[in-house]
Amino acid sequence: ALPANTQLMPDAEATARAAAEHLIDMVTTSAGERAAVCLSGGSTPKRLYALLASPGFVERVPWERVHWFFGDDRVVPWNDPLSNVRMVREAFGHASPVPPTHLHFMPSDEGAQAGAHAYEATLKDFYGADRLDPARPLFDLVLLGLGSDGHTASLFPGKSALQEREAWVAPVAEAGMEPFVPRITLTFPTLASARSVLFLVNGAGKRDPLTRLASGEELPAARATSAGSLTWFIDREAADA
Ligand code: 6PG
Repeated sequence: ALPANTQLMPDAEATARAAAEHLIDMVTTSAGERAAVCLSGGSTPKRLYALLASPGFVERVPWERVHWFFGDDRVVPWNDPLSNVRMVREAFGHASPVPPTHLHFMPSDEGAQAGAHAYEATLKDFYGADRLDPARPLFDLVLLGLGSDGHTASLFPGKSALQEREAWVAPVAEAGMEPFVPRITLTFPTLASARSVLFLVNGAGKRDPLTRLASGEELPAARATSAGSLTWFIDREAADA
């Protein structure tokens, strides 16, 4: 069985379009003056970000109100091909509609530990408090992906960051899989502080972790929760349907 609250999509393009619609819905219904979206990395969401900057969508996003954060990143220079900063910048394109001060990158120049601390301060400053209030989620939308080993964000199987309940952001010295570079990741309590959490899962490479989740294995992605809704957009190829 697929995860609860799965919406099966015909293909990757349909997943990206449905995600763009959902994102617009969440940022336009945000309760506060500012809306906040937590971006996922890797390759899956690239099409979604490009779509948001394209005709038909770009006019409908209230860009001046939305702030964009990262769920995780690899601790490499921002112009490195492994960097999620680079991926997001390339996807939004040269004429990016995102006001530069609204894109909150994870620092990459002082290592994972210092970067995690600095990013936690960035999030707390934006939120305006040091404690997450379940009644007032940090994010309007958190985007997540599913790794081949069942990880999500940079929360990898068997790593201590999975257990973290206090820190909002954690350093990960070593992922246990490629690429073998340190990471910075939001922790589960932070990712859960959202009106909506949305997994995007496309392609045959995701059949294995989906099957393992279905059999009840305690993979990291199975631990994701949400203060609001938790939804999976899965394409037919990944679902093997
Ligand atoms: C990252 C991610 C990570 C990603 C999965 C899936 O920066 O590595 O945020 O959690 O979502 O690894 O990656 P793909 O989309 O490339 O399959």
